[in-house]
Amino acid sequence: MSKKLEGKVLITGVHGQLGRALAAACGDRGLNYEGRDIDTLDIRNPTAVDNWITAAQPSAIVNCAAFTTVDDCETNEGLALAVNGTAVGYLATACDRVGARLVQISTDYVFPGDGDRPYTEEDAVGPVSAYGRTKLRGEEHARSVESNLVVRTAWLYGHDGSNFVETMRAQIDRGAGGLKVVDDQRGCPTFCDDLADAILDLIDAGATGLVHAVNAGDTTWHGFAVEIAHRLGADIDIRPVATKEFPRPAPRPAYSVLDTSRLESILERPMPPWQDALARYLERPCAP
Ligand SMILES: NC(=O)c1ccc[n+]([C@@H]2O[C@H](COP(=O)([O-])OP(=O)(O)OC[C@H]3O[C@@H](n4cnc5c(N)ncnc54)[C@H](OP(=O)(O)O)[C@@H]3O)[C@@H](O)[C@H]2O)c1
Repeated sequence: MSKKLEGKVLITGVHGQLGRALAAACGDRGLNYEGRDIDTLDIRNPTAVDNWITAAQPSAIVNCAAFTTVDDCETNEGLALAVNGTAVGYLATACDRVGARLVQISTDYVFPGDGDRPYTEEDAVGPVSAYGRTKLRGEEHARSVESNLVVRTAWLYGHDGSNFVETMRAQIDRGAGGLKVVDDQRGCPTFCDDLADAILDLIDAGATGLVHAVNAGDTTWHGFAVEIAHRLGADIDIRPVATKEFPRPAPRPAYSVLDTSRLESILERPMPPWQDALARYLERPCAP
């Protein structure tokens, strides 16, 4: 694949799971990059956004900043919209002005989750949660930029992040004898390191518009939990239960498997299988 990414790459939300993985991937590739998080750049501040982008004159901005606590979005949709929606408009305006590409990270939660085959980029959206609605607004802002790439992903876990793998690991470490995990939500667990590589490869390939990017294969949270326990060598009883046994403020999509055919045809490769990704994630010792 030809390598077209020249010039500076800016990363927002760089202290988050994906932001960190992306910064590491940029470093590994010898790219000129700069990352900021809310402590140094609150993307809700249009002047600060414009000043940063104007000074940096980047070739691409990858927006990893987001209000990601799905249940909190239900009770605070205004704040979620400000971060996940309106602020993407500020990034879009500044990108258009300096001629930079805007790469917006989006989510499977833009879909209603009642499908029975993997969602493609052409499928109708219809979010059922505040998080999904606000992220969809972010997509719409990003799509207004002449050179845009919207990468929808799902079920992320990355090093030093707060994620399902670490929740499971903590339960195992504290000696939990048995666990109940929901088995009626199906999706695609995705390792941030693999996603970061895919994002940079998509930029290199000149991809634009919507692209779904998740590790290959799909499972339920229960299936994911069983695999995590197996890989950690834990002898723990993990019982499958229905979502209704764990009522949460935000509705969860029952089926949010993403079709990655478009990604595969652009990159001329699939993303690694989720089981392989999990094994690589667990190879690195967790933070003390
Ligand atoms: N996690 C998933 O399972 C998942 C699934 C599908 C899509 N995504 C999308 O993937 C992207 C990366 O997710 P992630 O898991 O890496 O999220 P994350 O770990 O929560 O990181 C998001 C980062 O954005 C920062 N942030 C929040 N509000 C901000 C603001 N106003 N200005 C600047 N920075 C702000 C957060 O800071 P604080 O921590 O201080 O708030 C955090 O460092 C997001 O767009 C998310 O919607 C995630």
